[in-house]
Amino acid sequence: MANHGTTLEMPGRGRRRRGAAGPAVRLVCVGVLVGAGSAAHAQDGARFGGRLSIVPVDFATRPNVSGAGQAEAVLEDRTLTIAGTFEGLSSPATAAHLHRAPPARRGPPVFALEVTEAESGRVAGEVELDDAQIQALRRGGHYVQIGTRNNPEGEIRGWLLPRAEAAAAAPPPASYLAGQARTGAVAYRNVCATCHQADLSGGFDAPELAGPAFRGLWGGRPVRDLLGYVRAAMPPAGRRPDEDTLAAIVAYILQQNGAGAGAAALTAASGGKIAP
Ligand code: HEC
Repeated sequence: MANHGTTLEMPGRGRRRRGAAGPAVRLVCVGVLVGAGSAAHAQDGARFGGRLSIVPVDFATRPNVSGAGQAEAVLEDRTLTIAGTFEGLSSPATAAHLHRAPPARRGPPVFALEVTEAESGRVAGEVELDDAQIQALRRGGHYVQIGTRNNPEGEIRGWLLPRAEAAAAAPPPASYLAGQARTGAVAYRNVCATCHQADLSGGFDAPELAGPAFRGLWGGRPVRDLLGYVRAAMPPAGRRPDEDTLAAIVAYILQQNGAGAGAAALTAASGGKIAP
């Protein structure tokens, strides 16, 4: 990996500023990342990104877990440039890594990233990927994780998921049957609502499944990606519903995000986009 660092003094970002001047936090910066958001402004190259949220833990033994953030990445040729921000950690960040594992799984760290040694700040890095890593990345197989003084094993993390292509290339809205959404509503309440809430607004570490944040992340992507994620990762523990039931639950999620029912059933092969 390319790790030519310049050391910069940067003011802390986010709500947790302590004095008028703010704490001076140390950020070791990778050359091209000086100037926020350069990753998002790259001309071409596939884009990836996602929210950073707390690592699922047993709160009886680890009560000090908090924080949130986001990370964006651009792949150009073999170089993946990652830039993100975070805030509200329980204690100062001590390390950040890119890990390899499919969504909702744990995997080994594969690259070290630079991180602000504070409760709020930035995470950044520039890494060279091989063919297998690029393939894994395109399937959402890497996540960014930040460890802290309280939680060196990881306090927040988030998957770098492929971003939707430009609007022009977006597929038409996905289709589902009204009956699927009805079946899905019942199954959702039984299997998913304990964590994501009955109104899909999300709770605690489970993200919302209906609303602007969800549509921002998933809206332009083909529905088979969402079904694939749910099939691979949800619910995180316990028995998984069968294929038809999972498709029905995803139809219900589409409905709750404003997509109307159509003439074709939603299946694992459906290519339409998630939000209308
Ligand atoms: C035990 C709690 C729990 C249950 C039950 C559960 N989830 Fe989740 N879900 C989570 C957590 C936690 C995450 C965040 C995953 C992560 O970051 O590893 C998540 C993430 C997701 C995501 C990704 C959302 C995003 O914006 O990134 C989807 C989609 C999802 N769940 C759907 C479902 C569906 C559908 C069900 C029911 C079949 C379900 N979940 C059941 C806890 C749960």
